[in-house]
Amino acid sequence: MIFTSLLNNELRSRLIALRRDLHRHPELSLQENRTAQKLYDELQRLKPVEIRRVAGTGVVARIRGKDPGAPVVALRGDIDALPILEATGLEFTSKNPGVMHACGHDAHATWTVGAACLLAERPAAGDVLIILQPAEEIGKGARAILKTGVLDSVAAIFGAHVDSRYLVGEVVAQEGPLAASSDTFEIALLGQGAHGARPHESADPIVCAAGIISALQTIVARRLNPADAGVVTVGSIHGGSAPNIIPETVELKGTIRAVDTGTRRLLQEEVKRIVKHTASAHKVKAKVTIHSGTPPIVNPPQPVSWARDAVANMLGEEAIVPLGMLNMAGEDFACYLEKMPGCFLRIGVREPGGEVIPAHSPQFCVAEECIFVGAAVLAETARVASETLAKQNP
Ligand code: NI
Repeated sequence: MIFTSLLNNELRSRLIALRRDLHRHPELSLQENRTAQKLYDELQRLKPVEIRRVAGTGVVARIRGKDPGAPVVALRGDIDALPILEATGLEFTSKNPGVMHACGHDAHATWTVGAACLLAERPAAGDVLIILQPAEEIGKGARAILKTGVLDSVAAIFGAHVDSRYLVGEVVAQEGPLAASSDTFEIALLGQGAHGARPHESADPIVCAAGIISALQTIVARRLNPADAGVVTVGSIHGGSAPNIIPETVELKGTIRAVDTGTRRLLQEEVKRIVKHTASAHKVKAKVTIHSGTPPIVNPPQPVSWARDAVANMLGEEAIVPLGMLNMAGEDFACYLEKMPGCFLRIGVREPGGEVIPAHSPQFCVAEECIFVGAAVLAETARVASETLAKQNP
């Protein structure tokens, strides 16, 4: 137990109990009612300047700083679970069958409350807003929180995600891309139905779909600079009802990922172009709809330097590790970074010698000490950021 010294005994036990309770009672996006109430009650004990429920199942608390006039910074933890049947065998395994904290948001919610406790004990220069955000998994929570206006006067925002690729005690705090944009597309193909034995009388949307799926693979292989990262994945295909009928319609759905806006635009344009021309070659009508999801996370330099200082203060310089491999998953924290500066961290959760179990898998679990690391690092990041901002804007 090397990270126990970051927090006192009482706070450690409280956070472990909170995390296990959240893990036992996971709730899906926008249904986090019990979770939000539990987190509200925990934060209420700290006698915050203000606490309220926002965006349905979100909670925002304002922890008092030394100077009420100093710039305000925010810490964000997401709180929702996933539709997965848990298979960890943990003693505090999910009591809600088919719903599981398989992305570690139970740890995120808990370490954010932990950071609030630490900031109540040793305040930052200015007030710190604690944001417990619903619905990250469906990419809607951050925008819903922003819409309430609670962050309008916030000078910087920080958050973190568990990551089993790194050992507990290791933290990634680096400049540049940390998560990808996540857009979805739908392709509706309208052909001409016919008997399966008379294909010449059809405009076959099944064969057209096959051509489109193959052609879409050439976007990343042949249109994108090999030095840039991008993903085009078709994840769903529906069409047809019988072996001997050529159907009228086929529907495809997929996802597009990129870590910069130029690539994001290129991939979207290429999907539309290839679908249009491939469908035309098959005499099939095509409609492409692209739903813009969350943008990429690209950490800006100054907030990163505050987070790195905080990690060094709490754990030593050696705790800061490189991201290593670009992460093509999405994270709706990116929506906050469109509006204000900030930094998103990745916090190691693997026990020494433990295997890497990917998030969103039924076996996913975190080394519990990551909660102490997350709480201490986020609280200290808020302090460093707040103090620097207060000096910059006296
Ligand atoms: Ni997550």
